[in-house]
Amino acid sequence: IGKEIFHYEQVGSTQEIIHQLVQEGYGHGTVVVADEQVKGKGRMSRPWHSGKNQGIWMSLLLKPELPPVQAPQITLLTAVVLAEVFASATELTPQIKWPNDILINHKKIAGILTEMQAEQDQIQYIVLGIGINVNHDQQSIPEDIRHKATSLKIESQKSWEINWLIQLILETFENTYEQFLDKGFQSVKEKWEKYGYKIGEEVTISTMRKTWPATLVGIESDGALLTRTNDGKQKKLYSAEIHWGDD
Ligand code: BTN
Repeated sequence: IGKEIFHYEQVGSTQEIIHQLVQEGYGHGTVVVADEQVKGKGRMSRPWHSGKNQGIWMSLLLKPELPPVQAPQITLLTAVVLAEVFASATELTPQIKWPNDILINHKKIAGILTEMQAEQDQIQYIVLGIGINVNHDQQSIPEDIRHKATSLKIESQKSWEINWLIQLILETFENTYEQFLDKGFQSVKEKWEKYGYKIGEEVTISTMRKTWPATLVGIESDGALLTRTNDGKQKKLYSAEIHWGDD
């Protein structure tokens, strides 16, 4: 991972650059990093604010020999990697909000966007996008999300060296990913459980179709979220949003 790193000052989205590089024949482990994205993409087609030199805006090209159903495990694995990096590099306590948000002090500090191309039972490639708010001050976080987003600098009261963090993330990712390919998801699941946010607590869950209250139980070995509804029934979810408080 990261033997080939492309660094850009400004791009639309590092995700799009990876999709192009795949067409040009670049392979597994190619990394694209940008100082600034003018069309940063979040999940659910939301925009992702990616101001100049404020954060880590990075995409990895992965070509695992796995069936498409295992792609969500790679998202969870990446969340674990980011949580471990924040826990080891800072004095902060990161938590993972299923499936792919990293929170510090209940506010979002990083997000993951997994885009996959698959054919029948085989993943062709995955573009793994990682966005981390690093050196933002309060004022540089857009006002409409200030109540729920934060940065490493805001939480730790110091600035962070972006290239150093990128190296640490790539190394940790490589180790965790190899271990996952070798030994399966169990090792990731155990680490995930250390960081899982609101596990055992009541939250509101929503899908495109409905919204309901439930208690978070944990994650399953396939990466699904396990929940319990008020009538005591357990339910596995593969795609949903978790809310709490007035969010
Ligand atoms: C989310 O939480 O909604 C996911 C955010 C992912 C943002 C990253 S930044 C690098 C890569 N390029 C993009 O356009 N998006 C991802």
